[in-house]
Amino acid sequence: MFNILLKTKINFNTKPKKTLQLQQHIKRTEIPIYFMANKFYYMLAPLDDMTESCFRTICKDADLTFTGLISLESLSKKNISSMEKIKFYDATPCTIQIIGQREESLKKVLSWFSPTKGFKGFNLNVGCPDPNFIRQGMGCAMLKRISKIKRMVGLIKDHGYTASIKMRLGLNGYEKDKKAYLNLINQIDADFFVVHARHGKQNYSDKADWTTFPDCVSTGKNIVANGDIKKKEDVDKMKEFGCCGVMIGREAVINPLIFSQLKDLPVEPIDNVINKYKRLLKERNTPDRYSKNIFKFLGNDCKTLG
Ligand SMILES: Cc1cc2nc3c(=O)[nH]c(=O)nc-3n(C[C@H](O)[C@H](O)[C@H](O)COP(=O)(O)O)c2cc1C
Repeated sequence: MFNILLKTKINFNTKPKKTLQLQQHIKRTEIPIYFMANKFYYMLAPLDDMTESCFRTICKDADLTFTGLISLESLSKKNISSMEKIKFYDATPCTIQIIGQREESLKKVLSWFSPTKGFKGFNLNVGCPDPNFIRQGMGCAMLKRISKIKRMVGLIKDHGYTASIKMRLGLNGYEKDKKAYLNLINQIDADFFVVHARHGKQNYSDKADWTTFPDCVSTGKNIVANGDIKKKEDVDKMKEFGCCGVMIGREAVINPLIFSQLKDLPVEPIDNVINKYKRLLKERNTPDRYSKNIFKFLGNDCKTLG
């Protein structure tokens, strides 16, 4: 069902409609390291061209959300569409996900970046299987470039921000078998690691390999499990493994109430949530491509909405 989405072209040059809302900037010292021991986190996954600010807001009970991937190069050049992606409209906790490999570009971004309410850190994408990124040594081709990742995580932390990694298990089956993912987790001092339990040659019809999570947890690092997690029993399994959180992607697009449901919190009627989403889209002047993608799935039977 997600094949259509997977074929969605990543276009960093699309100009968004004009939005001129003021953001409330905050001091760096007001952003504590977001990740705490002894709490189990429910996270909304980064989904390119889907999880922009309006969708993140309606996933009300997610403890943390992510922007879709943003090219570090484009961001360092303050490309309009990238700047739009890092704009926060409310206090929904959100991590900015970057994909890139040039430390100079990261330094540049960190030199002018000014956090606003809701910002909870930077996440480095070490998992994207898109051949365009792989060819340039990025995404899951970066998994074995430990020194580079170390330096990039260090740069983020030096600025006082939470630094996390989102990764696959390896570039391919060979790297997975060699446990390249454990090598990375062991050697990098990130605040947490989101492990999407597939390697770079697998697609979504291949089942995520949850048997890799206990090994990841045994490193003593903070591991957030990702891949095919949909229901309470799945979450219980991740808790048993010792993971400190779950990240949910495709299921949250169908049902953004999933976070409230999994946490046994009061659940709003889905129609209210859809109406709120539509209102936010208008208020924030959101480019149509995001809601077009979302409305193919949101609420399951709402394919013609919007
Ligand atoms: C349409 C689509 C877009 C995605 N975009 C991103 C992205 O921008 N960054 C990223 O790290 N992962 C991205 N992913 C992967 C998801 O974050 C997640 O790892 C994957 O969907 C598995 O989780 P799930 O089974 O809960 O959906 C994308 C996946 C899909 C289907």
